[in-house]
Amino acid sequence: MQLLEQRIQKNGKVIGEDVLKVDTFLNHQVDPQLMQAIGQEFAHRFADEKVDRVLTVESSGIAPAVFTALALNVPLVFARKKKSLTLTDDNYQADVYSFTKQETNHIIVDKRFIQPGERILLIDDFLANGQAVQGMLDIAKAAGTTVVGAGIVIEKTFQRGRTLLDDQQVRIEALARIKAFENGHVVFEPEA
Ligand code: G4P
Ligand code: NA
Ligand code: NA
Repeated sequence: MQLLEQRIQKNGKVIGEDVLKVDTFLNHQVDPQLMQAIGQEFAHRFADEKVDRVLTVESSGIAPAVFTALALNVPLVFARKKKSLTLTDDNYQADVYSFTKQETNHIIVDKRFIQPGERILLIDDFLANGQAVQGMLDIAKAAGTTVVGAGIVIEKTFQRGRTLLDDQQVRIEALARIKAFENGHVVFEPEA
């Protein structure tokens, strides 16, 4: 997606070896116009999949996921990372190990908000090691749903996430695919 790649080139900052900081439009400050274009692009790519619901993880997945759900005219549910006061015990949980932070978190979805038989589209801001998407897959499976694919805003193809999902035949649509960081610059995979 050209608009997104241009924005990454303009505003993205490479941090260390393998992290891209995009807090001016995605991870802290959010650009609603760009998020709307992203949501429309995901909706277009998954148009034939009869999606019933969009699933993401708080917090940075929510902005692109909300616009995707709007464009598909379906509900969005985001997995919570912390148990909220009002969450019931009737929920699905999955472990998500963060290689970056070297800690395991739980993600949680109330059973009322994901129904057996539904066709689910997963959305996330980054695909790095794939652990967040794996956690969502685990929950979607436990709930007896079908995952139609994963819409990823920014994929880092040099990390292991894609392989993990390919092994499970999960369709991935990534809008910007980063091949490498070279001397603080972003190198994209050629667009298909
Ligand atoms: P994984 O889900 O692909 O396995 O990701 P990993 O454990 O490597 O990363 C943990 C957190 O860091 C995730 O956010 C993930 O989205 C984010 N992340 C991974 N690579 C990058 C990157 O290059 N740039 C930025 N900005 N973030 C990256 P999270 O902890 O779930 O946080 P939240 O922002 O969604 O609240
Ligand atoms: Na995320
Ligand atoms: Na994040």
